[in-house]
Amino acid sequence: MYKPKERVRHPLPPMVVPSEEEARGALLFSPLSLASGLVLAERTWVPAMVPWRATDEGFVSDRVLAWYERFAQGEPGAIVVEATGIRDVPSGPLLRIGHDRFLPGLERLTETVARASGGRTKLLIQIIDFLRIKRRPERERFFRQFLRLRPEHRRRLSELTEDPALLDADETVIRERLVAAPHDVAAACLDARERESLERGARERVTDVELEEIRELPRTLPDLFARAAERAQRAGFHGVELHYAHAYTMASFLSRLNTRTDGYGATLEGRLRLPLEVYAAARAAVGARFTLGARFLCDEVIDRGSDTADASAFAVAFARAGMDFLSLSTGGKFEDAKQPKVGEAAYPYTGESGFECMPPALSDARGPFARNVPKQAQVRAAVRAAGLTTPVVVAGGIGEFSQAEAILRRGEGDIIGAARQSLADPDWFKKLRLGRGAEIRRCLYSNYCEGLDQKHRAVTCQLWDRADVADAGGMVTDDGRRRLVAPRWR
Ligand SMILES: Cc1cc2nc3c(=O)[nH]c(=O)nc-3n(C[C@H](O)[C@H](O)[C@H](O)COP(=O)(O)O)c2cc1C
Ligand code: SF4
Repeated sequence: MYKPKERVRHPLPPMVVPSEEEARGALLFSPLSLASGLVLAERTWVPAMVPWRATDEGFVSDRVLAWYERFAQGEPGAIVVEATGIRDVPSGPLLRIGHDRFLPGLERLTETVARASGGRTKLLIQIIDFLRIKRRPERERFFRQFLRLRPEHRRRLSELTEDPALLDADETVIRERLVAAPHDVAAACLDARERESLERGARERVTDVELEEIRELPRTLPDLFARAAERAQRAGFHGVELHYAHAYTMASFLSRLNTRTDGYGATLEGRLRLPLEVYAAARAAVGARFTLGARFLCDEVIDRGSDTADASAFAVAFARAGMDFLSLSTGGKFEDAKQPKVGEAAYPYTGESGFECMPPALSDARGPFARNVPKQAQVRAAVRAAGLTTPVVVAGGIGEFSQAEAILRRGEGDIIGAARQSLADPDWFKKLRLGRGAEIRRCLYSNYCEGLDQKHRAVTCQLWDRADVADAGGMVTDDGRRRLVAPRWR
């Protein structure tokens, strides 16, 4: 995890506990209608969180059902199901929606949430596309197998080692000499992308238009997203969140780093074009009465990346196109991710942009609490200035009643997203609503959960995963040491 230069450990802000009557009068617990006709019973929202619970083929498992059932017992206004893949390709234990065979499991999921929340919570699903990323290779394998040898490699190696014989040497000799060379010499023979593949693992980008699959993304993605959205509708979800945030394909189209010259990059209009076409295709598939919105970044927080002014333009364009909600996140990019260990893939939440995405208690002077809400408020203000009323979901370090209520009262956001606080205590919104806020298990913003996500291990919270493991009804990790869902609130 990235650590800022000045390190300040922030205590949790004092907890304001409203009485049941005060909660009744709070904006947080007032209903909100979306343009689709969907009514949220309250403005509380559990944003998408990948818990690593799906089967290896991407199906809903009993563990997935238990995870969302537990959030639904807290009866928030909405839950967004984790990033779910739209393609019909193996993606490990990530939930998938790229084929009708995933429908029965997804139907069980919507039924489970409806039952557990007494029909109070609206259930959305986040749908995602991502490009290929490889693990960091062993150096020997990289030079012996993966590197496509070019005359330039031979020339550079001969120059740097002052060995003219290499100019006519066999390919195997060149490869072995690269393996044997000191790292800086071998790396100096490579171009920037090859060096990245060696040091971090190869990663595709939306600008790799020499690859047919990447060049054709504007032709393939609208239909893939549309069919996934339509499947979500058939499975009984109340809505779909298009994943246009963090390190993934659609966010990369929106990014200022997108220099494609085929009309799908380079200018603001070009970068917006595919996200708008994907939305239009999904909308055509599900109709106006089905809730459809997007999650995107209020700031990429990377060198030469998109900032809040870009995000404001995106938000206005999405709202004008007819999205029912705009959900804002921050950062979470590959560009500044830490170098992974050999055999591991880069994780987009290890750099400064990841720090902004899931701000931890060990922070800079500004601290983690609602840290990016000022930027998100600017984005919302741009939408309002354009005469549009689309609700905006804000998130990042929000985990206390008075803070959430003040954000709504000041008009900085319309819906409060709380991921980690909801993981720490899935009943926290309900406890507040019932005037029992003193019983809330408060998130420490330690990012223990995020560390598990990084290792693709079952995500749990340090505040409850070792408590009463024997009473977890079998919902425990394979090693039997951690419970997989928070204990029931009695
Ligand atoms: C374990 C974990 C998994 C996450 N997975 C997703 C995801 O699938 N999609 C997404 O948009 N954000 C994801 N996030 C980010 C959260 O939705 C949220 O934006 C972030 O944690 C900041 O909010 P918080 O301070 O309330 O936790 C994840 C966060 C965590 C901790
Ligand atoms: S492990 Fe628990 S306490 Fe720590 S950040 Fe995650 S949800 Fe909060």
